[in-house]
Amino acid sequence: MFARIIGVGSFLPGSAVTNHDLMLRGVDTNDEWIVTRTGIKARHLVEPAGTTSELALEASRRALTAAGLNASELDLIIVATSTPDFIFPSTACLLQGKLGNHGATTFDVQAVCSGFIYALTIAEKFIRSGSHKKALVVGAEVFSRILDWQDRATCVLFGDGAGAVVLEASDKPGILASALHADGAHHNILSVPGNVCSGQVIGDPFLRMDGKAVFKFAVRVLAEVAYECCAAAGVEPNEIDWLIPHQANIRIIEATAKKMGLSMDKVIVTVDQHGNTSAASVPLALDAAVRDGRIKPGQKVMLEGVGGGFTWGAVLLEF
Ligand code: UT7
Repeated sequence: MFARIIGVGSFLPGSAVTNHDLMLRGVDTNDEWIVTRTGIKARHLVEPAGTTSELALEASRRALTAAGLNASELDLIIVATSTPDFIFPSTACLLQGKLGNHGATTFDVQAVCSGFIYALTIAEKFIRSGSHKKALVVGAEVFSRILDWQDRATCVLFGDGAGAVVLEASDKPGILASALHADGAHHNILSVPGNVCSGQVIGDPFLRMDGKAVFKFAVRVLAEVAYECCAAAGVEPNEIDWLIPHQANIRIIEATAKKMGLSMDKVIVTVDQHGNTSAASVPLALDAAVRDGRIKPGQKVMLEGVGGGFTWGAVLLEF
């Protein structure tokens, strides 16, 4: 029994906000700095009232249409997000309500930029156990809400968006192997170190990051976990047709591909178009490559995430 992806969808809100647009909005930056250091050319940002569940809904509808499934047929809904609509109920329950599904097992997963990889792996384990048959797994974020627009070292990096996949129990190969890790000792190099208590914000409600430390950590663990996942599946890295790493920074992506001995024409890159959308980044890139025909049935695809916690993980699947 495998868990197999049968539909993919994604959604980016509004129109692209270019690096130049950020300058016009008053951020002390320039296109050359952002493109050279990160590869990012644009990001999408929700209107002030926009929510994660709304982005998740659009991406989910597209994935369900691609799968030819009705939302009522889902028995598992997982949303990976660090920017939930509310403290509770979960964004997954809000999405479930919007989709009109009643009764499915439904919850959020919080693993920041590794969230989609965590959620996909959890869904696969539910399906392989035989308890569930049809799952919707979503990565959705409104990171613009937790950005300090006075901090040019972080605010230019992130964007809003959502991506979703529908998984089904199948005899045909789907997910071949996965690996998930975390090390809380590194919690302070990327965090939003605040909370709400008695109606007050306690601590700092904005994203804070030690960019250089995150960069080094990401390059090391993304290559390590990819090798671990390949070994678990009995697949050589050079048998991978497509690598889809977390879309945070083109230099991290290139360094990971190099460590794995993969040429960049086997790597899906969309970070230029939407910046770092945290848990949404991997399904956004997956959807782009499925829709433009690069990813074909039967090909081997490696998905990878790394983010706050610190968390990291990989999923190797046959599409
Ligand atoms: O999901 C994981 C999320 N995080 C990441 O992927 C981030 C990983 N880290 C990185 O991608 C890089 O560390 C950054 C892109 C964040 C920064 O690149 P860097 O090469 O480490 O730059 P830096 O922090 O050393 O900054 C160099 C200079 C500084 O100026 P001085 O002090 O050398 O004069 C900054 O003030 O660049 C300046 N700077 C900027 N200049 C224009 C910082 N941000 C900007 C900006 N525009 N937006």
